[in-house]
Amino acid sequence: MIINRIRWHWNMIVLFIISLGVFLASGTKGPAQTLKQPSQERQVIWGQLLARDNCARCHATDIEGESPHKKAPPFWEMSTRRDVDTIADMLVNQASPKHSDMPKFRITRTQAQYLAEWIAWLQPVAHGKRLVEANCSRCHAIDRNDNSNHPDAPAFRTLSKFYPIDALEESFAEGIVTGHPDMPIFQMTEVQLIDVITYLETIQNTPASE
Ligand code: HEC
Ligand code: HEC
Repeated sequence: MIINRIRWHWNMIVLFIISLGVFLASGTKGPAQTLKQPSQERQVIWGQLLARDNCARCHATDIEGESPHKKAPPFWEMSTRRDVDTIADMLVNQASPKHSDMPKFRITRTQAQYLAEWIAWLQPVAHGKRLVEANCSRCHAIDRNDNSNHPDAPAFRTLSKFYPIDALEESFAEGIVTGHPDMPIFQMTEVQLIDVITYLETIQNTPASE
């Protein structure tokens, strides 16, 4: 009787050890997987979200607008103030200007990188938007939801239906886009042209709610 009972216990213990072994082995199969780095496009989006959550109480963090804090420069014009490639280091090293109201942040290199990607992305797009506002908006719809003032002028967000946007660079450079009598001839510098096209690319195919 006693011997039987000890055997029974012994069997259960052996069974338990075997199942534990199987369980552990199944959990540790294969080498650990490394996480993929987000593409640059996604880093920009993460940067935008980080900026909205952490910086927007002082800075204008998007493509236009005034900063809530009078002394905080809007992100869209940061390139007039410093080389945007230096922003990630500035944030990590807490090297923001002395005498400023800018708080110190506990920030990782990765977060700083994403924020810097966002700010860098904004520069040409914001510049392009300012240019089309000043030069094209009296005829063309220039945004996601507006209407063209001139009946024949296509809304900019629909241009890619007719041709690839980057082909415009050459057309403008060669004056091809000036065929219509109502459209004036524009002299644009290389940088202005690239920034206008960069802006036009960002608004293509966005659904209009009109
Ligand atoms: C409480 C307000 C405040 C917050 C929040 C804030 N800033 Fe600032 N920031 C400022 C002010 C004010 C300045 C201008 C400093 C000066 O010129 O003295 C500034 C300047 C800057 C500059 C320019 C520095 C230079 O030397 O050109 C950058 C870049 C910057 N901020 C990034 C950020 C980022 C990124 C965040 C969010 C993670 C952030 N700031 C959050 C107030 C703020
Ligand atoms: C005074 C009005 C006016 C202004 C200002 C104007 N456009 Fe136009 N644009 C037109 C009209 C009208 C058309 C339609 C031409 C046609 O159908 O032949 C047009 C057509 C275009 C097209 C399509 C060309 C094609 O071959 O189909 C592009 C691209 C364009 N405009 C870009 C711009 C840009 C960029 C600016 C500002 C720098 C601008 N336009 C300013 C009136 C204007």
